Amino acid sequence: MEAKDQKSGLAFIDLKSNDPVNLYEDWHQEAIKYMKGSTSITCLATVSGETPRARHVLLRGYGKDGFEFFTDSRGRKSQELSENSQAAMCIYWMYENDKSERVSRQVRLEGRVELLPRERVREVYELEPLHCKIRAHLCHQDVKVDWTQMKGHHDELLRQAESDPESLVMPEHFVGYKLIPTWFDFYFSKDNFIADRMEFTNEDGVWKNMRIAA
Ligand SMILES: Cc1cc2nc3c(=O)[nH]c(=O)nc-3n(C[C@H](O)[C@H](O)[C@H](O)COP(=O)(O)O)c2cc1C
Repeated sequence: MEAKDQKSGLAFIDLKSNDPVNLYEDWHQEAIKYMKGSTSITCLATVSGETPRARHVLLRGYGKDGFEFFTDSRGRKSQELSENSQAAMCIYWMYENDKSERVSRQVRLEGRVELLPRERVREVYELEPLHCKIRAHLCHQDVKVDWTQMKGHHDELLRQAESDPESLVMPEHFVGYKLIPTWFDFYFSKDNFIADRMEFTNEDGVWKNMRIAA
């Protein structure tokens, strides 16, 4: 075994504020600085009856009001959220920083999910690149398809968009949600260090935090 594998240490989360959204923002900004791929991919877990279901979605915005994602209202996750609005997210960032440290960070969130107002959904839809607008029109999420038929429909929509870029108006089934967290868990580790964790729980509008073992 090489000497570096025998090293150990204890990572430390330096809390500058008692607000977990500020800590999320700091961590996200650092990930943007060092990570090559997207820093906005989160695993979203919902509940279907007694069965948990998880999939990745793109986080399109976050703040004190919640963590936003967008999807097809006809798909399974929308159905699940209409039956049980409790959901969880799990985000993972891994990169090498400018001190050549291998940083590993995870943020877990839990809370209730609410539909976003249509004006906010429209704002996001208008900023979508062409392929996302085409997907919103083309794909009825989770429904069985014939690939050749889909390709024909795709090419038709592409021709339509090229001749009239305004024609792909936002479909009704394009919806957005925000998860309003009442619980956060931040996990930080680097190199061979043992991770540090901070748990935040919202009690009557006030965030309480606690350092917990990894
Ligand atoms: C990196 C990545 C990002 C994704 N982003 C979204 C997204 O923002 N919205 C979405 O509906 N599906 C997104 N998907 C697809 C979902 O993971 C999933 O396959 C789809 O939403 C159907 O999920 P459901 O059957 O649970 O509704 C993404 C997949 C990946 C791999």
